[in-house]
Amino acid sequence: MVEKKALVLKIYVYVVFLIGLSIFLYILISYKNISLLGVVLFGMLIFIADNLSAPLPKTGSVSVNFGISLASLILFGPSTAIIVTFISIFNIREIIKRIPYYRHIFNAGQYLISMGIASLVFELMYNREVSNFFNPVNLSYILAAAYIFFFLNTILTAGAISISEGIGLANVWIFNFAWLIPFQLFLAAMAIAISFLYRLYGPFTLLFTSLPLIIAQYTYLLRVKERRALLNSIMQIVKIVEAKDPYTAGHSVRVAEYSEKIARELKLNEYDIELLINLANLHDLGKIQIDLSILNKPGKFNQEDWEEVKKHPVVGYDIVKEITFLKSEAKSILYHHERIDGSGYPYGVKGEEIPLFAKILAVADSYDAMTTSRPYRNARSNSEAIIELKNNSGTQFDINVAGAMIEILKREMAKS
Ligand SMILES: [Fe+2]
Repeated sequence: MVEKKALVLKIYVYVVFLIGLSIFLYILISYKNISLLGVVLFGMLIFIADNLSAPLPKTGSVSVNFGISLASLILFGPSTAIIVTFISIFNIREIIKRIPYYRHIFNAGQYLISMGIASLVFELMYNREVSNFFNPVNLSYILAAAYIFFFLNTILTAGAISISEGIGLANVWIFNFAWLIPFQLFLAAMAIAISFLYRLYGPFTLLFTSLPLIIAQYTYLLRVKERRALLNSIMQIVKIVEAKDPYTAGHSVRVAEYSEKIARELKLNEYDIELLINLANLHDLGKIQIDLSILNKPGKFNQEDWEEVKKHPVVGYDIVKEITFLKSEAKSILYHHERIDGSGYPYGVKGEEIPLFAKILAVADSYDAMTTSRPYRNARSNSEAIIELKNNSGTQFDINVAGAMIEILKREMAKS
């Protein structure tokens, strides 16, 4: 099964690459009017822009690349635009990171197909004889080129994700890419501004049109890096917390993994999924305040111990709510031990008062507790976990969230 999927993916990648390469060569042969100045200037810009783009969760990157490619298409035609696009394929970070070669091949193929077809259609329609740059018909072709590129680019990428993750193409596309539709409008406007000023006043206008965007993009990249550095240091603290209690080693990472699976089953968007993973990693951060002698107690907890343990969601919440990019959902940490029927802690809130992320954390957390060995009992099997999840649905666990976890487990059991 896994081998078949890998083979289909490989065939897909090579087919995309070969089609992309053919379109690239076809354009170079059919449109010989390459602008050397265009290639150098726009090639340089796109190379800088691409290497300063910030990665998005799983779905590629936010980048102004296409705006630059499209401007070169409007100014110089398909052959220059396709070479500029070709240059954007070389990303130093990806080469240094040694990402697998088929990812390079796929990216190259899908960019060449998307930009190639958008360029060919554009060139057939766009009237270069019209003197008014803002001719509405011509502008509509620029917009058409932007969206042809967008749909081909995202559908081809969604295809690869769909094959490798075994999720329907439409689902992958809607949840990963649909939200980017308005952004394409911004890129088309940017291309129009770049090419209009370039035509009117010459190449130096690029300093005013593209560079500010590239700088904005670089600032965003720095912010993403800063965020990652902060998360890394927090993860170090989580490891220290887990080291205090040998029975929970690796617990937070596993809870994050299960939370992600549940979130995907519930079809949350990528931004929410990333936020949830970060929160799941930190959900037991508050245990940092619990006394070592309690955590390592071999027998059952007494009332006093329990009172101490019950404070950890509050302590964790107090820390996480101070982190800017996590605070919107920090309450999920506060409520991760609450139960639907109100019998949980620390506050005994119930039902819809508990946020969705907290309900997901609760199921992921309990599933991990069920399936790992504790001093007082052995690990339970997946079928036993399913029964337990079912029995406690609607009382301890949210019915939908527990249902999602049961579906995931059933699927995994059927596969093995
Ligand atoms: Fe906890």
